[in-house]
Amino acid sequence: MRVPRYLYITITRECNLRCQMCHFWTYRDPEDKLTVKEIKEVIDQFSNINPQGIIIISGAEPTIHQNNFFEICKYIRSKGLKSACVTNGYDFTDETIKRLIEEGPTYITLSLDSHIPEIHNRLRGKNDAFDKTLDSIKRLVSLNKQTKNSQTEITVISIIFDENIAYLPEYIEFVRSLDVIGVLFQIINPTFAKVSKEDKFFSEHFFKNKSEAISILESVYNKYKEDPFVLLKRSDIEWFKNYINNPDFIGESVCDSHNKNIFLELCGDIVLCAHMRNLNNGLAIGNVRQDKLINILNSEAAKKIKAIMEKCHRNCGLLACHKREEQTN
Ligand SMILES: C[S@@+](CC[C@H](N)C(=O)[O-])C[C@H]1O[C@@H](n2cnc3c(N)ncnc32)[C@H](O)[C@@H]1O
Ligand code: SF4
Ligand code: SF4
Repeated sequence: MRVPRYLYITITRECNLRCQMCHFWTYRDPEDKLTVKEIKEVIDQFSNINPQGIIIISGAEPTIHQNNFFEICKYIRSKGLKSACVTNGYDFTDETIKRLIEEGPTYITLSLDSHIPEIHNRLRGKNDAFDKTLDSIKRLVSLNKQTKNSQTEITVISIIFDENIAYLPEYIEFVRSLDVIGVLFQIINPTFAKVSKEDKFFSEHFFKNKSEAISILESVYNKYKEDPFVLLKRSDIEWFKNYINNPDFIGESVCDSHNKNIFLELCGDIVLCAHMRNLNNGLAIGNVRQDKLINILNSEAAKKIKAIMEKCHRNCGLLACHKREEQTN
């Protein structure tokens, strides 16, 4: 077994925004979700499996239940592991900003989907989303700079979709002016946690003019390929192009999620990619309440699904975190 490098821990499925491309905000956490104590036990087990591993604290919005979030962050720090989170940065008090820098994850990525407030707000479903997230980014960057020996690294991420693709160079320069260390991109996927059968937002906002979308991405890549601020690799562009051309079939094996990622779901189930259940008759490979993480990873169920995932060419939106490492370098 290759040693997995990343443990994704879903600590909540609740959210304070109302995004069009992600419907987690319709979810409520179940009563039997893992306790912080149970999560700490899994962190202990993971740190024995990979002492150099990185833990991604994820959600919906991971910061929404702040006491749990910070207790988990602090525990990860105390084990000498690094952690990361992606957050919408909505409604952070000064106290939250302080705790994020002092106790929070090593890598903090804030989602800002445009430098044009109306585009971000429309996508995020709240009229004050842009102002609040921007304000959080500015306060975080400022405090991070003032904090001696801070280990925190702050980046910004944007979805790329039909409404913002033409403005990418302006967006990049706007984000650069915020003094974060880099900007990342994620191409629009089918709506997360979709409530209805049809996917209205995705079908309306996936690129209608495919060749134009691809040529914009090519020109953005060429403009910024030597620029370390823009975290966009050649392999990302190749993947985006394949995906835009044919969102129903990946066409080449670029996924390595089964080797590098472990996902701990809210009630303790373990899966190896965000879509693994779709490949495995809805099943997880085990549950940390019933077995140790190492046994789950070495189980027959794990071996069986890894063989399927090895050959998977499915259109799953393939998140950047699922791609082979050598393809992201
Ligand atoms: C599910 S969110 C969770 C973290 C946090 N709530 C946030 O919005 O940043 C993680 C990332 O997925 C992105 N995302 C959400 N829905 C998406 C979609 N349909 N396609 C692509 N990326 C999406 C968000 O913009 C965010 O950067
Ligand atoms: S993308 Fe993030 S902020 Fe938007 S609904 Fe999903 S979890 Fe919430
Ligand atoms: S391509 Fe997508 S569905 Fe297939 S194994 Fe990778 S992440 Fe999972």
